[in-house]
Amino acid sequence: MDSMDNQEPKHQRRIRYEGTHPKTFKEKYKELQPEKYSDTVAKVIQKGSTPAGTHRSICVNEILEFLQITPGQTGLDATLGYGGHTQEMLKCLNSKGHLYAIDVDSIELPRTTTRLENLGYGSDILTIKQMNFSDIDQIVLESGPLNFVLADLGVSSMQIDNPERGFSFKTDGPLDLRLNPAKGISAASRLKTITQKELQGMLTENADEPYSEVISRAIISAIKKGIDISTTLKLQLIIKDALKFIPGNNRDDEIKKSCRRCFQALRIDVNNEYEVLHTFLEKLPATLAEGGRVAILSFHSGEDRLVKKSFQRLFREGIYRDIAPDAIRPTSEECNTNSRARSAKLRWAIKA
Ligand SMILES: C[S@@+](CC[C@H](N)C(=O)[O-])C[C@H]1O[C@@H](n2cnc3c(N)ncnc32)[C@H](O)[C@@H]1O
Repeated sequence: MDSMDNQEPKHQRRIRYEGTHPKTFKEKYKELQPEKYSDTVAKVIQKGSTPAGTHRSICVNEILEFLQITPGQTGLDATLGYGGHTQEMLKCLNSKGHLYAIDVDSIELPRTTTRLENLGYGSDILTIKQMNFSDIDQIVLESGPLNFVLADLGVSSMQIDNPERGFSFKTDGPLDLRLNPAKGISAASRLKTITQKELQGMLTENADEPYSEVISRAIISAIKKGIDISTTLKLQLIIKDALKFIPGNNRDDEIKKSCRRCFQALRIDVNNEYEVLHTFLEKLPATLAEGGRVAILSFHSGEDRLVKKSFQRLFREGIYRDIAPDAIRPTSEECNTNSRARSAKLRWAIKA
């Protein structure tokens, strides 16, 4: 036995934060262990925030009221995320029928799978797969016609809060923004190959960015000068610098909004979000049983427009027998207790 084997493993101190308000993701170790620190988690929720490492499902009552799930049915959660909606839908099935649940995220999917297994949901009632919802037709080969489908678009709170994923400029992290980091290219790599005109178009089309020209010029000029834009804060700094001409007291606010829109535009681009949503909407009717119900929750105007147009066209063609006359918004109570619900719009359709 050599001396290394005799050594006690070095005690690793937990990452501590100063004061009572942890700021970074890793410091929030209490929120990251909800089973151990339920009081802390309850306090965070009470304040209208989402505990780190979790996701609070939006419009649950509105969705369940519309889907009218009954025991024995077969359904699909096309965006499993934290599994909040999935759990509610499973309760409605009451151990009879089957729920398929998919997500592209290779990092969060195994965690959610374990969480749901620990709650007692096994393969008899729930099938989880890592896949893109644009491949919904493949699910139906196994499941048969679906009685209900839910898609809760966009990103989960776990994805936004984890600095290593690069979805937020609140803290520094690699400028990645991929829902599935095992596939495609990161936002940082994408920026290295894009032209100024393409970037300008991307910012306008994906996020209605009013300063798309000045921001795209600043980014491309920085890249040409060899300035590194491989992290979230480095990109934020370039956007901030490009917009410092904005006059008035609300400059900081305007800049923050532009940063948010630029990150959204990049995320939509690297994940081909409009393309995959379009494919999903096109394939959807063929996957639904007669009278099958679909509910889609979207979080920005580009997504909502695609859903609305598709539902309206297919309704006119008689493929859907009914569609939501207007988008349904979360109640003001829900928006007050969960700020991430504020931009949500729910639309539904029923197959003829
Ligand atoms: C808002 S979260 C869903 C939260 C979930 N409804 C819950 O209650 O926990 C959106 C999820 O959809 C996933 N997602 C986004 N686009 C996708 C796609 N094209 N195919 C499959 N999953 C997708 C994301 O990875 C993310 O986990």
